[in-house]
Amino acid sequence: MVSLELSRRAVLRGTGAFLGAGSSLTSGEGRAASTEKWLDSYMDTRVTVNGEEYRFRHEARITLLDLLREEIGLTGTKKGCNEGACGACTVLLDGQRINGCLTLFASCNGRSITTVEGLASPEGKLHSVQQAFIDHDAFQCGYCTPGQILSAIACIKEGHTGSDVEIAEWMSGNICRCAAYPQIVAAVRQAAKEG
Ligand code: FES
Ligand code: FES
Repeated sequence: MVSLELSRRAVLRGTGAFLGAGSSLTSGEGRAASTEKWLDSYMDTRVTVNGEEYRFRHEARITLLDLLREEIGLTGTKKGCNEGACGACTVLLDGQRINGCLTLFASCNGRSITTVEGLASPEGKLHSVQQAFIDHDAFQCGYCTPGQILSAIACIKEGHTGSDVEIAEWMSGNICRCAAYPQIVAAVRQAAKEG
């Protein structure tokens, strides 16, 4: 972690020097300095995660995904591509599905987050979407499954379950490398029917 920070700063310094080699030496150095200052800054953020309140003083650049996994220990939310392409990191932010890897934690201040760990009842009864995934065998390795389930909950709430084609379209942001797509669609269809 420390070495990563140092290497990013070294790159930024190098970028500033490179920009300075042309005609705008001062503005190049200024840009590098202000970006470096931002990397060094800390912020205070308060969130509710699965009904529990947390406060963090954190690096400004940390993503919601990294904070959930590394600081709170909620590793059910998965890191796949880390660039918004696979949906493995899907969580609900104030009830809406988002990619945790593309969301700065600082932007979540005062908001409510739901991860896969927060879906079952306190007594251990599974959420209807979790149960539907089991009923339809809608996973193989399971890596994409938490993201699929959170996305499915939002998909149903959004009302995008009129047909299998519609479900597949509105679940298309969640990639399954095991190709369990027919079973996933069947699970979403069942959960949508159950309400
Ligand atoms: Fe966030 Fe792939 S890990 S979309
Ligand atoms: Fe393996 Fe979806 S179950 S990636």
